[in-house]
Amino acid sequence: MYLFLFSIPNFVFVVLLCAINCICGRMFGEEGFYPAGYYDSQQVQYDRIKNALTKLEHAPQWVSDWPSPSIKMGQVSGVAIDNMGRLLVFHRSRNVWDVNTFSDRDVYQGIGDDPIPDPTILVLNDTGELVDMWGQNLFFIPHGITVDIEGNVWVTDVALHQVFKFTPDQRQKPALVLGEKFIPGNSDTRFCKPSAVAVLSNGDFFVADGYCNHRILKYSPDGTIILQWGIGHGSSPFVFNVPHALTLAEDRGLVCVADRERGRVACFRHDNGTFQSSFSNWLMGGRIFSVAYAPVHGGRLYIVNGPVSQILPVRGYVIDFTSGRLIQTFAPDAGLKNPHDIVTSPDGSKVYVAELSPYRVYKFVDETLKNESLLEKVEKNVTVTSATHVKPTATVEVVGSGGGGAGAGRVAALVGRAGGAAGAAAAALLALAALALRSARNNGKGYEAEPLVH
Ligand SMILES: *[C@@H]1O[C@H](CO)[C@@H](O)[C@H](O)[C@H]1NC(C)=O
Ligand SMILES: *[C@@H]1O[C@H](CO)[C@@H](O)[C@H](O)[C@H]1NC(C)=O
Ligand SMILES: *[C@@H]1O[C@H](CO)[C@@H](O)[C@H](O)[C@H]1NC(C)=O
Ligand SMILES: *[C@@H]1O[C@H](CO)[C@@H](O)[C@H](O)[C@H]1NC(C)=O
Repeated sequence: MYLFLFSIPNFVFVVLLCAINCICGRMFGEEGFYPAGYYDSQQVQYDRIKNALTKLEHAPQWVSDWPSPSIKMGQVSGVAIDNMGRLLVFHRSRNVWDVNTFSDRDVYQGIGDDPIPDPTILVLNDTGELVDMWGQNLFFIPHGITVDIEGNVWVTDVALHQVFKFTPDQRQKPALVLGEKFIPGNSDTRFCKPSAVAVLSNGDFFVADGYCNHRILKYSPDGTIILQWGIGHGSSPFVFNVPHALTLAEDRGLVCVADRERGRVACFRHDNGTFQSSFSNWLMGGRIFSVAYAPVHGGRLYIVNGPVSQILPVRGYVIDFTSGRLIQTFAPDAGLKNPHDIVTSPDGSKVYVAELSPYRVYKFVDETLKNESLLEKVEKNVTVTSATHVKPTATVEVVGSGGGGAGAGRVAALVGRAGGAAGAAAAALLALAALALRSARNNGKGYEAEPLVH
């Protein structure tokens, strides 16, 4: 129990001891390790979950014989749908991301090795057959993938700390590269394990950066930064803890972020980064791995959560955007273990989920939503919504200490108002303790055995 604490600074150690005393002292008092009623409360919680799941519509339906079992893949980190309605699967082949993959300073430990020699991008058609593959000799630890309206494919590689754009006619050589190869950082030219890309129909695009940074960047089509926001600590809606996936709701003028370790989907105006709304639910738990938006029935968010406890189920969930209510849930019969990404067709009739482990992709369908006119628009390359190019107005919440005054100030103000000096101090202590725990866990050096979660 105490083993993993040695790497944590003394101050935090003391705080943690206090916290443990406080909490455990009360919970696990004289009656033994588990207090009286512990198992009853587990049962109550279990019933509550079961009851909540029963109330949701179970849709879309899992397609059990999809894809063809002959298709082999490694850890599947990303899925995207191209403009012909085919699924792009981004996988790591024989490479895996585990505790030895990066140094404490986020440097990839396999520098000098060859990139993955197998095709890392598999293209599957509607019936689950492999119809194309590419992306060999380019990547080390694949992460996010998306396709823009012109058919360009955008990917991120967390080992390389880079973002790549490939045009439809040139799959061997990227047309655009952002970030510095193998060099983590937090600047205009460097990312740290960037996780995802989303491209507006006018060509402007967003990058989620990422595992070690806490920011969303917006670029013009040529790769010039026009806006960025996000901070690492505090309680404002601009705080991110692993912004893990992105989706666009262009009909609403929003970009939405799966803020993984804060267990929320946070949506921001895509023109100026203003916070608009946030979605979370006790049933989904504290970890949200990915999100995809479909403009059906007033807008729906398709979400996959991640493992948090033995008791909370890992599943797909659908949230109605307007009401913010959980309306549907879905999973293959055997459930999900470590879902990592999700994508939906524009009409919401087809949903695909990528799993890191087991190495799988799943297809789900909802025939009632099928809308040819919505699909055709995209497949025939017609812009669904006419997004005009907006000139940058302001940088909302700049990352980092240098020049981050506005963000930090606002958070400080919030804490101050919340409860005076004592409250602020207590909040800071708790935050530090939580942080220490989190970093111990994220570095993979914690004592708890955790499934692969990257
Ligand atoms: C998918 O590809 C396979 C093999 O090329 C082909 O037989 C099948 O008809 C295709 N399915 C669709 C829906 O295009
Ligand atoms: C799609 O449309 C855009 C402009 O609207 C055009 O530049 C692009 O070449 C088109 N792509 C295809 C595959 O037709
Ligand atoms: C973003 O634009 C909206 C609408 O014009 C405005 O209300 C909001 O204040 C803007 N936010 C920033 C940070 O400029
Ligand atoms: C299909 O989508 C279009 C928008 O592109 C919408 O106007 C139409 O009502 C939808 N049809 C159905 C049956 O939902």
